[in-house]
Amino acid sequence: MLEVKDLHVTYGGAVRALQGVTLSLPKGKVAALLGSNGAGKSTLLRTISGTLRMHRGAVTSGTVELDGGSLLKRDAAAIVTSGVVQVPEGRRIFGRMTVEENLRAGSVGNASRSSRGRLQDEVFEMFPVLADRRSGRAGLLSGGEQQMLAIGRALMAEPEVLLMDEPSLGLAPRIIGQIGRVISDINSRGVSVLLVEQNATMALDVADLAYVLDLGRVSLSGSADELAGTDAVRHLYLGESSPDATGMDGRPGSPVPGSAPRGLSRWVS
Ligand SMILES: Nc1ncnc2c1ncn2[C@@H]1O[C@H](COP(=O)(O)OP(=O)(O)OP(=O)(O)O)[C@@H](O)[C@H]1O
Ligand SMILES: [Mg+2]
Repeated sequence: MLEVKDLHVTYGGAVRALQGVTLSLPKGKVAALLGSNGAGKSTLLRTISGTLRMHRGAVTSGTVELDGGSLLKRDAAAIVTSGVVQVPEGRRIFGRMTVEENLRAGSVGNASRSSRGRLQDEVFEMFPVLADRRSGRAGLLSGGEQQMLAIGRALMAEPEVLLMDEPSLGLAPRIIGQIGRVISDINSRGVSVLLVEQNATMALDVADLAYVLDLGRVSLSGSADELAGTDAVRHLYLGESSPDATGMDGRPGSPVPGSAPRGLSRWVS
């Protein structure tokens, strides 16, 4: 179980990105984390994965625990060894390296050659397209293939908990469907997943439970089905029109492209 309690995070001592976030990811589950631009989703993942300092961020109070052990005192490498692995935002694959070299970069330092080989075979089984391109430069892969490589690279570290930051970003609907199925497949192998998404349709489809972050606070939480049924999520994140909502073009009820507006709480009665 991954548990975050009353977490406060700032950047440069000034920007209060998280203001008392509490959430949990039970073992073997998929939790979706929705929220508009700037809500603090990536900040939460960075805090859990120990990469917050690289972004000049700091935890001012609160706890992050995996099975009762604090992750906040561990550095990023130790957190990976603990079994918590992040697929970073924007994929961050090494474009000049081959597919195989990228995968090798994902395995933890103490993995034996045979376990690396086994894990790589599993990744190639999950993503046949990567097997076909194993000796090719990663930078020449399509956006969807690069996302699969980024996921495959994270799997090389044998995660217990996988943190994913907007894996569907910039991908065509057909590829987003594939990513959703990959997440379900990974979860069916016993890996818990914390899935940050602006594509609420895909996220709520694969998730067991869901949270909505709004300006650094959790404004809604519940089972994925419950959240998909709330007016706030339907209007703001599933693109459904609302009689009293005003869209980007000023017309009532038109869906907001790209992201949801701030102030979700006004929808929550
Ligand atoms: N390195 C940084 N330095 C200063 N402020 C930052 C930094 N990174 C993020 N922020 C600020 O912290 C807040 C939360 O940002 P964060 O990137 O976590 O949001 P997000 O929910 O991931 O948004 P998006 O959907 O755009 O990815 C925002 O106000 C953002 O401007
Ligand atoms: Mg983000």
